[in-house]
Amino acid sequence: MNDNFDTIILGAGAAGLMCAARAGQKGARALVLEKSEKPGKKILISGGGRCNFTNIGAGPNNYLSSNPHFAKSALARYTPRDFLDLVESHGIAWHEKTLGQLFCDGSAKQIVEMLLSECARSNEFGGDVEIRCGEEIASVVHSNGTYTVTTQNGAYSAPALVIATGGPSIPKMGATGFAYELARQFGMKVVEPRPALVPLTLGGEEVLFREISGVSAPVVATANKSSFAEAALFTHKGLSGPAILQVSSYWRPGDPITIDFMPDRTEGWLVEAKQANPRATLKSVLREALPDRLAEILVDKIGLQGELGNLSDKALRSAETRLSRWTFTPNGSEGFAKAEVTVGGISTAELSSKTMESRKNPGLYAIGEAVDVTGWLGGYNFQWAWASGVAAGEAI
Ligand code: FDA
Repeated sequence: MNDNFDTIILGAGAAGLMCAARAGQKGARALVLEKSEKPGKKILISGGGRCNFTNIGAGPNNYLSSNPHFAKSALARYTPRDFLDLVESHGIAWHEKTLGQLFCDGSAKQIVEMLLSECARSNEFGGDVEIRCGEEIASVVHSNGTYTVTTQNGAYSAPALVIATGGPSIPKMGATGFAYELARQFGMKVVEPRPALVPLTLGGEEVLFREISGVSAPVVATANKSSFAEAALFTHKGLSGPAILQVSSYWRPGDPITIDFMPDRTEGWLVEAKQANPRATLKSVLREALPDRLAEILVDKIGLQGELGNLSDKALRSAETRLSRWTFTPNGSEGFAKAEVTVGGISTAELSSKTMESRKNPGLYAIGEAVDVTGWLGGYNFQWAWASGVAAGEAI
């Protein structure tokens, strides 16, 4: 058994690596145990390979949690600007894509390399970070103030243990609910996990929309009073695209999703279109704003054919309302297999918002996606991983 560690961090993902670097640079000896063959696998595939590493506008309002106040402290103490300073100090070129989303110009690999180099720098501060990959955790026990983790390669112990094993989204990459099992073993509550940032599926009459698979349009999508103005994409299974992924985190089975297909038009626009050009048709005016195939299917569903001049203002107003409040009732989602993140997780009621330490179990910490804090699409989830990792790393 090796006892020479101040802390053991389970998981070499975004949160675990950040936590290790910070703890190491504070002089701690940290051991990171990772079950995959290499660290940072989700970082490597993130942002289409370019890693949307933060969002410059990230704040507590961009997160879902049973306790919306929980993330405030960590997010305020380690900001997007702090992470950007780190990125720049490593000479990594970056750009803002849209809506405050910051990406590497080059590759996500640069972010993993940066985190590994920050871990290695611990030696300059009297600390040390050791990362061991390919470690399958068989058991974790706590006795006499020491956490002992047993893997197929042996047993490691330390007075502190950090759960940084993420959530169950994308099981194909080895993601599991391990964090929740461990939390429950230590008497901590887990908020029911659900897939989030996930495509939604359509059935019944709505399957007709699958015919326009591949078509996308800028919309405002709303679920449970949360609205996002971004693109929606029709797929062969249902709905996707950023606007849908965003609302999926707020959606629960059975809930409707409302889509405004004409978000830039003001009330009465269709009657005005009739006055301006009575010979126009609904299809022709929709085609000015929407892809042809989408315009056609919407007109077929509304059932208003012919020239606008021959249609009553009342019928046009009702078409307008329908187009701005189109309701889909998804019959499900594509599940954890396709979910970018998980909503829910280790209850924030169990943790200190300053240090991420368990209230019941001194020396036990939980960070990153394992915790019931979930960001919007657009760099917010990594910002939570960095901020919660720093909070725990400084406290250990
Ligand atoms: P993460 O999943 O990164 O790390 C957990 C680590 O623990 C993994 O390395 C895993 O192998 C390891 N592990 C699991 N069980 C273990 C066990 N029993 N023993 C030892 N190790 C174990 N977010 C964002 O902000 N911008 C983006 O561009 C993207 N893009 C993106 C694309 C795709 C396809 C996905 C699936 C997700 C994203 N995300 C994202 C979300 C982001 O990847 C996610 O929020 C963070 O990686 C969470 O960081 P964690 O460190 O908490 O978990």
